[in-house]
Amino acid sequence: MRLLFIGFGTVGQGLAELLVEKEENLSKEYGIDFQVIGISDKLKGSIYNNDGLDLKEALEKVKSGESLFDLSGYKYEGDALSMILKAEADVMLEATYTDIKTAEPATSHIRKALERSIHVVTTNKGPTALFYKELSSLAQEKGVRFLFEGTVMSGTPLLNLLRETLAASSVQEIKGILNGTTNYILTRMEEGLSYEEALKKAQELGYAEAVPDADVLGWDALAKVTILAKVVFGARRKPFDYPCEGITGITAAAIADAKNRGKRFKLIGKVWREGSNIKASVAPEEIALAHPLAGVMGATNAVTITTDTLGEVIVVGPGAGRRETGYSMLIDLIKIGSQK
Ligand code: HSE
Repeated sequence: MRLLFIGFGTVGQGLAELLVEKEENLSKEYGIDFQVIGISDKLKGSIYNNDGLDLKEALEKVKSGESLFDLSGYKYEGDALSMILKAEADVMLEATYTDIKTAEPATSHIRKALERSIHVVTTNKGPTALFYKELSSLAQEKGVRFLFEGTVMSGTPLLNLLRETLAASSVQEIKGILNGTTNYILTRMEEGLSYEEALKKAQELGYAEAVPDADVLGWDALAKVTILAKVVFGARRKPFDYPCEGITGITAAAIADAKNRGKRFKLIGKVWREGSNIKASVAPEEIALAHPLAGVMGATNAVTITTDTLGEVIVVGPGAGRRETGYSMLIDLIKIGSQK
């Protein structure tokens, strides 16, 4: 499997570390032998070699703050799109930053790769939230996969669970905590940290978006809710068609006051059926401390899925982070590599 990394930030590096760690296992268990032929990153530099690059060396360079351009003479001068156009790759791993309003530059990268019949694995929420139908149809037409498990709840299996294990169920509602950064901030504010300190820590831990406004204003959760509405419920609306409120209005005093009343603030994303309509929203809610969602702390995410067959199914797990999100890409890669 010849791999192309477009974007080599937190998530791309998380996947690269897992690939290095599990290389032998992937070959033994799934017969997947991979070779990274290109890495393109706006900030860290770009390298390309048709015969394969040393992924370990690339990781070491980036971790020590050096540019990829310094790597063993494989410097690539063009931009990401030109690399996608040129690369003889089987799979493109798209992990550039998310822009929920324009979904660029990621959507252009994905379109170009699919047009060239290159499989796409992404954790980028913009393209899926805005162009799910178009990109899935293009992939189908070209006989390749467009996979995005990590766009919702990072490596915690939610989309695959909904699309595969729950495929024979009618889902009535999906509701829960879908943004790790805001849940982390609310948790740490309850412990006494200021909003600014908690946000800074979330950034250090690799939970927050490149521009963290997207987290605290609720846009990231909104993108995830939109993805669920499209993929699971067949809705067609775009993110900002749904009501959305973030956590910026929640003060430390409000958090303490809620606690005294046996409540805890959580940023809740939900999507549900109402007659023949699909509704969705993101907003902070005061949840009773005894409710299972109230006990979900830190960057952990949790959703309740209401089905006609199994009643309520609850999924809890990491919702953000370097290794956690990288893991989702590994799962998508195994799906591609093991398909007959
Ligand atoms: N910024 C996102 C979050 C990353 O905090 O949940 C995972 O999508």
